[in-house]
Amino acid sequence: MKEEKVVILAIESSCDDTSSAVIVDGILRSNVIASQKVHEEYGGVVPELASRAHQLNILPVVDTALKRAGVTKDELSAIAFTRGPGLLGSLLVGTSFAKGLALALGVPIIDVNHLQGHVLAHFVEDGTGLKHPGFPFLCLLVSGGNSQIIVVKSQKSKDERPIHMPHFEIIGQTIDDAAGEAFDKCAKVLGLPYPGGPHIDRLAKLGDASKYPLAKPNLPGYDYSFSGLKTSFLYTLRDMLKAHQVETIDELAERVPNLREDMCASLQATIIDILMNKLKKAAKDLNIRQVAVAGGVSANSGLRQAFIDYGKRYHWDVFIPPFSFTTDNAAMVCQAGYFKYLDNDFCAIDEPPFAKTTI
Ligand code: KG4
Repeated sequence: MKEEKVVILAIESSCDDTSSAVIVDGILRSNVIASQKVHEEYGGVVPELASRAHQLNILPVVDTALKRAGVTKDELSAIAFTRGPGLLGSLLVGTSFAKGLALALGVPIIDVNHLQGHVLAHFVEDGTGLKHPGFPFLCLLVSGGNSQIIVVKSQKSKDERPIHMPHFEIIGQTIDDAAGEAFDKCAKVLGLPYPGGPHIDRLAKLGDASKYPLAKPNLPGYDYSFSGLKTSFLYTLRDMLKAHQVETIDELAERVPNLREDMCASLQATIIDILMNKLKKAAKDLNIRQVAVAGGVSANSGLRQAFIDYGKRYHWDVFIPPFSFTTDNAAMVCQAGYFKYLDNDFCAIDEPPFAKTTI
């Protein structure tokens, strides 16, 4: 007898991207993302504007995801949604939409932890032959809100693809700011648009990373800290403003050749160094050689290159996601939803979204 198809629709609305994806029998069929431009002029995400934009985008985004996947809503086996962490107003839009649609269709809902979704982006079968990590592996999760080192384990054998949800153990995380926040806040100080990460990445390619030595934290274990680096960045500029007797970064840039490029290169190199040093320590201590990176900051070209270099030097098998799966997307939520569906791990209709959690 032919088994029924498993069709999962996923909805992601944790921050400022409205996204929906469809997986059919483990294969990604569509991944639609509407990014919100409205926040650019404010230099950061404005929660109320994000919720309103999700309200406008969600119906067309879900509709397009279903159409591109070539499925109708009546074929859905379950609906997965990001339950948290994220902005509560944004999460409420996706959560309510998923629950309403599921109730109307009489299908179960699956709650997904956004951070686990980022890690599981490495298991999406998108037809491009993406290489999946074996178990156990280490994942450096670096985004606008998180910087964590996670050990991902499965009951499956080392190289087998998991057909069940793996287990996530956070062994290190930031005690203050996230790496993405350090990129964005320092970019703001330099007068670069939001989000600053991609702008720093672009300018860093033109700068000298050894020009401005910046402070690095000295924390035991695998935890991170980026607030001291941010202060050191700020004080470096403050001292230069004073020395050149000017008030703005634009005036300073006229006097100091290549100021922004060199500051960006120095900042990026320092962040990468901090991230990779702890990861290297974890890989050595735990004797794990499968090492992955995930989250928005994994789009950074310097960090991607560092993974390749460390991989060669320390004989790691490295896993770097394609750009489309680095920032927020529903494909990763759908992948988590698919694993949970196979585990019969569903969520009650009255489970509320949550703003904060670890994994
Ligand atoms: O994962 P994500 O899309 O959102 C969160 O869930 O936080 O990550 C967004 C973060 C922002 O801080 C953004 O500046 C950063 O990822 N980012 C980058 C790059 N592209 C995005 N940071 C450094 N270099 C990049 N190329």
